[in-house]
Amino acid sequence: MSAFQAPKGTYDLLPPDSATYLAVREAIAAPVRRAGYGYVETPGFENVELFSRGVGESTDIVTKEMFTLTTKGGTELALRPEGTASVLRAALQANLHKAGNLPVKLWYSGSYYRYERPQAGRYRHFSQVGAEAIGAEDPLLDAELIILASDAYRALGLRDFRLLLNSLGDRECRPAYRTALQDFLRGLDLDEDTRRRIDINPLRVLDDKRESVQSQLAGAPLIADHLCEACKAYHEQVRELLTAAGVAYEDDPKLVRGLDYYTRTTFEFVHDGLGSQSAVGGGGRYDGLSEMIGGPSLPSVGWALGVDRTVLALQAEGVELALPAATDVYAVPLGEEARRALFTAVTALRRAGVAADFAFGGKGMKNAMKSANRSGARFALVAGERDLAEGVAQLKDLATGEQGPVPLEEIVTTVKERLA
Ligand code: HAM
Repeated sequence: MSAFQAPKGTYDLLPPDSATYLAVREAIAAPVRRAGYGYVETPGFENVELFSRGVGESTDIVTKEMFTLTTKGGTELALRPEGTASVLRAALQANLHKAGNLPVKLWYSGSYYRYERPQAGRYRHFSQVGAEAIGAEDPLLDAELIILASDAYRALGLRDFRLLLNSLGDRECRPAYRTALQDFLRGLDLDEDTRRRIDINPLRVLDDKRESVQSQLAGAPLIADHLCEACKAYHEQVRELLTAAGVAYEDDPKLVRGLDYYTRTTFEFVHDGLGSQSAVGGGGRYDGLSEMIGGPSLPSVGWALGVDRTVLALQAEGVELALPAATDVYAVPLGEEARRALFTAVTALRRAGVAADFAFGGKGMKNAMKSANRSGARFALVAGERDLAEGVAQLKDLATGEQGPVPLEEIVTTVKERLA
């Protein structure tokens, strides 16, 4: 052990578990790539104001959870707590929206940072795969993204997840709803902090998890009853498209999400095996965000799926992913001459696309065979002085124990045939 530990709220990804994380990222990205989304990567930190303006001055993320720092030059930066504001900033900076091909469809995968109280499924450093479609207002686009996320979870073998769906209205209908909700909330028995929230961000009160608050919200006005005709029609189309695609959803009129940029469609994927941190992914439409960060009007929609929680969900359902073998062939040399001959063979195998590893460090036969078995390889390639004198190595099937000589110059073709 070293004198140091991973910081509170973080953990290291190590083999063999790390292979599952890679596979989850891949599985989420695959359907998105097939749908025409291009890969985008942005810096791990941004100007702090991008998030305070974009995610919202009154959100928990901005008020409590950002890791901020001041550079030696005096610039205020924040480790990115989420990806949407950064991706939109990058698209605007590069004028992708002016290339005449809207929507701009982008996907990303990376680390995000929130100073939260750590618990199972909630970390200070976590990983998301996200997708954003920038610059189009089309219910088919909202539906496309939700279908892609649902298909990604299904492709992973998950079954016990649910999709919660809501519309938060737009600048036409939200203000009147907000006022109606504020009037209702002001009549309740709430603590000081929550009362302040009524003025700044009343919708967030609906999301309060405390029983003392929830029990008073039974008769609260719901956005669904206050949507304007345009928002109602838009939402109805999204719902019909999901149904037509066989994607089940539950209407959740109290789903508000923890970021302020949402308009119209909002959704969350929750998994029932995860306890309190049940949201495995979420997203929605953010038609006003571009203007909030100084850009033109660019109605957009997107989501981010949490990789850490998706892995936990797989564990909760007992789903084992079919991972490709890390090693197909493990070379076990006996003696110095064999070390060189098999090292050459391993290099040739790798160049031919076969996953191959080697018993380094001059291990004895017994230890080397143990390593071969531990590596999960299909075959061990064993050679000693006598084999080399005959120009062969022994190829041993580690599952059956069957073994036979293979001429050194035929190792690559033989292994490839046997693996096929
Ligand atoms: P979010 O709901 O804040 O949305 O995060 C998306 C997912 O990231 C969550 O559902 C969860 O799985 C994972 N996640 C968030 N915080 C943590 C944490 N502390 N520990 C572990 N996992 C976490 C967004 O970030 C939006 N940018 C999504 C979006 C994209 N909306 C439109 N486009």
